[in-house]
Amino acid sequence: MNYVTHLECANCAARYDAAKVHNLCTACQRPLVVRYDLVALKQKFSKKALFGRPPTIWRYLELLPVRDPAKIVSLTETITPILETKQLASHFGVQHLYLKDESRLPTGSFKARGMAMAVSMAHGFGLKRVACPTAGNAGGAMAAYAARAGMEAYVFMPEDTPIINQKECFLAGAKTFLVNGLITDCGRIVGEGRAKKGWFDLSTLKEPYRIEGKKTMGLELAEQFDWELPDVILYPTGGGTGLIGMWKAFQELEALGWLKSPKRPRMISCQSTGCAPIAEAFKKGDRFAKKFEPAVTIASGIRVPAAVGDFMILDAVRASGGIALATPEADIPKWMQFAGSREGVALCPETAVCLGALEVLLQDGKIKPTERIVIFNTGAAQKYPEAVREQLPRLDCTQPIDWASI
Ligand SMILES: Cc1ncc(COP(=O)(O)O)c(C=O)c1O
Ligand SMILES: [Zn+2]
Repeated sequence: MNYVTHLECANCAARYDAAKVHNLCTACQRPLVVRYDLVALKQKFSKKALFGRPPTIWRYLELLPVRDPAKIVSLTETITPILETKQLASHFGVQHLYLKDESRLPTGSFKARGMAMAVSMAHGFGLKRVACPTAGNAGGAMAAYAARAGMEAYVFMPEDTPIINQKECFLAGAKTFLVNGLITDCGRIVGEGRAKKGWFDLSTLKEPYRIEGKKTMGLELAEQFDWELPDVILYPTGGGTGLIGMWKAFQELEALGWLKSPKRPRMISCQSTGCAPIAEAFKKGDRFAKKFEPAVTIASGIRVPAAVGDFMILDAVRASGGIALATPEADIPKWMQFAGSREGVALCPETAVCLGALEVLLQDGKIKPTERIVIFNTGAAQKYPEAVREQLPRLDCTQPIDWASI
């Protein structure tokens, strides 16, 4: 049974019929979000229902928009582990530091959650052709799920997108184009192609369901923390679906009465100084962000100079009592190696900015050493060979080994 009541514009609250296919609000060109009958759900859906269900995102089916479970397109979106990071915690001087490791998901990033949901919904609506602009991982995820659903996929990415992202799209059979611009330029091409090529636009927040997939991060986190949410969440922010989706999850769980305490985490939106539109808007007290130029960062997933859901990110951060801030771009490789060498985790460059943010917020007393802190590792470091510039020393095996140099 599906508990969706309608779609609602996040900006002007206009209502839309969820049984039909929609992109943005036609009145104000802002994102639509899915609304559920939370009163009915509270009666009919209990935590106990989760018992024994498979450890995938689909265990929360009643809180998801899927109309026909037979139409789910899945590569097994597993519940991701929460790793306690004692060595990092000791470096930062905190007691409880956790990494939720999203790199374990299909296609190596959290984008699988959103795309599994959006492609499942598109499949349910009978759509056969999808397209998206991508800063990196979203394209690979869409291509994989579209392939599995037997859909045609078109991906448009900046020409300097990490090489692995380019090749994963090709391997998954998507028609993939390298564009001499940024994700915003790619987004414009996808928008223009809707009428000309008849594809469905799966851009971040330009359809209502990727957010519902990302919401499962929040549902999962709550369940893993036994329905007592952590104090602080640090999240790398590009288009913002992850942060917005999690915040929505917490609101819905509270309405269902599943959370042990009404206290919600402070959401920390982390960016790089190379592309920090949300951090800048937060500093100025603005609700809408200015386009950030030039946008230059090796953390390709957060190279999003303008986000259509900027106000949703900023609203969520402020409502949570959180902060948006930027870490120096030059520190990203250092933090990747720092986490990898101390904990064995393959930290993506996007998440590396969260470590810089944590350092600053602890110094400023904005996070207390006793608080429970969760950082989302949104993708796998292995997808970013370009972010690691170090040359390894060479060893000539035809010559006697100079053991002193080893
Ligand atoms: C690894 C990684 N982290 C973070 C982000 C930013 O995601 P969001 O759109 O949820 O802000 C992306 C987006 O491409 C990404 O690939
Ligand atoms: Zn609207």
